[in-house]
Amino acid sequence: MVEGYGVSIKTIDAFRVWDSRGRPTIEVRVETTSGAVGSAIAPAGASTGSGEAVDLRDGGERFGGYDVLNAIAAIYEILAPRLIGVDEQDQHAIDAAIEGLDGAANFATIGGNAAVATSMATAHVAAAVHELPLWLYLRGGKDDNVTLPVPEVQIFGGGAHADGQMDLQDFMVVPFGAKNFAEALEWVAEIYRAAGAQLKKNNKSYGVADEGGYWPSFSSNDQAIEALLQAIEVAGFDPRKSVGISLDIAANQFFRGDCYRLSKGEKNLSPDAWFDCLTGWLQQYPILMIEDPFEEHDLERHARLQSAFGHQMQIVGDDLLVTNSANVAQAVEAKACNTLLCKPNQAGTLTRARLAAERAYSADWDVILSARSGETEDVTICHLAVGWGIKQFKVGSFARSERMAKWNEVLRIERSLGSKARYAGRDVFAKFLSF
Ligand code: PGA
Ligand code: ZN
Repeated sequence: MVEGYGVSIKTIDAFRVWDSRGRPTIEVRVETTSGAVGSAIAPAGASTGSGEAVDLRDGGERFGGYDVLNAIAAIYEILAPRLIGVDEQDQHAIDAAIEGLDGAANFATIGGNAAVATSMATAHVAAAVHELPLWLYLRGGKDDNVTLPVPEVQIFGGGAHADGQMDLQDFMVVPFGAKNFAEALEWVAEIYRAAGAQLKKNNKSYGVADEGGYWPSFSSNDQAIEALLQAIEVAGFDPRKSVGISLDIAANQFFRGDCYRLSKGEKNLSPDAWFDCLTGWLQQYPILMIEDPFEEHDLERHARLQSAFGHQMQIVGDDLLVTNSANVAQAVEAKACNTLLCKPNQAGTLTRARLAAERAYSADWDVILSARSGETEDVTICHLAVGWGIKQFKVGSFARSERMAKWNEVLRIERSLGSKARYAGRDVFAKFLSF
């Protein structure tokens, strides 16, 4: 442990813990001179965009090369000496110091994992000094006009999270019509159960994908979309009026060379043929949200899709934007989509993530705060969503404790607000609901 003598951050401790894929990750624990403690754990993605903050991994044989001892050493040797003594309330200064100490735009020196865990842990300790939950601290202690985010929940998983069994990565539900967050989760629980029951009834075998969704062997992407719609309807909901469907295409994952290689149907589609395939789905099915429909460099086709469908649905940039405010600005200019998927560890620091969200809001886009496929019990993102006023929240499926920890934390926040709690629900999607 590194000890300091400043009046603010007194010690920074960092150590290896394990994530939901059984891989090493970093927990950072910050203590102030007043004895307040804050800690946070870095998550990790599997389907990453090329410009995002990169995790520093040790390489070599141990733990498949995923060990984080070098990133932990960077916290002790590079970050701690500079941050000890700094005012823990000054997130901007802390994050600027982290960015400056790394020096690389993608945090290649100290690692995005070291950066984000340290940034989040200092936010927690600042809240702890005020004896406030982080979400309330981020709102300056004010609990009026707080909105609880609409969950976006994976039912079927595919892509990089399910060994490429399905081309598309996430088949999700969005319970926008619920009266509050608690009811939204009740609806999801029924849909998740109905989806499992349907698979059993149809004798479909399945595994469980990285984020907890079922991972069945559908014979086509269409069949998976239809099974999703069926689960919503069997559970008693209307995909046009109460529970929308959302697809994370994660198109980077199956774009090779100059075409989209779909394992379902063993088709190689040119970008134009893929565009037609996608628009066919958007015309045929009541899809409310679509994420990363094209590979991240194809701004032009993103813009064509946005122009044809952006008035009726959210077109979400994840790998396209990598939570980078400059990428958001470029995509706003190109009219390439209308919603940012905001992942703090893609940005590397909370300040950078918030900047990307603010850039999106300033263009009248929507924003979704998102976890990663590699997660832990850390619930920081729940507090960021509520504290920053972000109205949508994506953390994977409705199974596995690293996912349920997040849903349950938002339930706790909703409960603590009592009658002051407002569910973002229909307000977010009102502009699309004529579809
Ligand atoms: P990742 O996937 O965390 O593996 O990047 C999540 C997503 O693409 O939304
Ligand atoms: Zn994605």
